[in-house]
Amino acid sequence: MEIDPKSLKNNESYKLLCSLLIPRPIAWVSTINSEGKPNLAPFSFFGAVTSAPPTLMLSVGRRKGQLKDTSNNLLATKEAVVHIPSQANANAMVATSADFEAGIDEFSACGLTPTPSQCIKPARVAEAAIAMETRMLSHQLIGNAPSDVFFLEVLHFYIDDKIYTDGKIDTLGLDACGRLGGDEYCTTTNIIQIARRVLK
Ligand SMILES: Cc1cc2nc3c(=O)[nH]c(=O)nc-3n(C[C@H](O)[C@H](O)[C@H](O)COP(=O)(O)O)c2cc1C
Repeated sequence: MEIDPKSLKNNESYKLLCSLLIPRPIAWVSTINSEGKPNLAPFSFFGAVTSAPPTLMLSVGRRKGQLKDTSNNLLATKEAVVHIPSQANANAMVATSADFEAGIDEFSACGLTPTPSQCIKPARVAEAAIAMETRMLSHQLIGNAPSDVFFLEVLHFYIDDKIYTDGKIDTLGLDACGRLGGDEYCTTTNIIQIARRVLK
């Protein structure tokens, strides 16, 4: 099979990319609007950009041509808490992706507990083991739709003490939930170790 991306419709390209670029980490993103109303939603077009300073990339699509609440909030307030959901958070995390009206608080709608952040105004999810408080560095429009791509600098890490040892996260303790294609998700229980050869 050979595929020219230009031959694909937008939904075909989305389906293909989402099912081959797996597993994807999930950013569970808490923001507030300019009036301080909270918003929470997951995004898997997400990744690390650099570690010094720790910087993340988040790509938010548009809904019928309109910016999603997360994009509007980030553009208005420049702040977001990015959580890494565990398997224990998976149902609630997916529930927060529903098409709630702007201004609906997904924390209370999905039975989650907001707790104050250290450096920024949006609350973090008390039920999540990892929360990164971030400030928007830049915003770019990418693609035909287009997508709103945000670069976010991490200002503060919250990590549950139970899963932190010696500068590292306990993989099994975190039990991070990853996104596959469609409605499929995965966890990180089948871990393999491969040492890298040192040539010099
Ligand atoms: C696991 C998961 C990952 C998602 N990833 C993305 C993504 O990368 N980009 C995107 O635009 N929407 C993504 N969505 C859909 C958004 O979560 C959904 O559109 C949500 O309603 C946006 O909320 P907001 O309008 O409050 O920002 C994802 C949904 C789920 C369940």
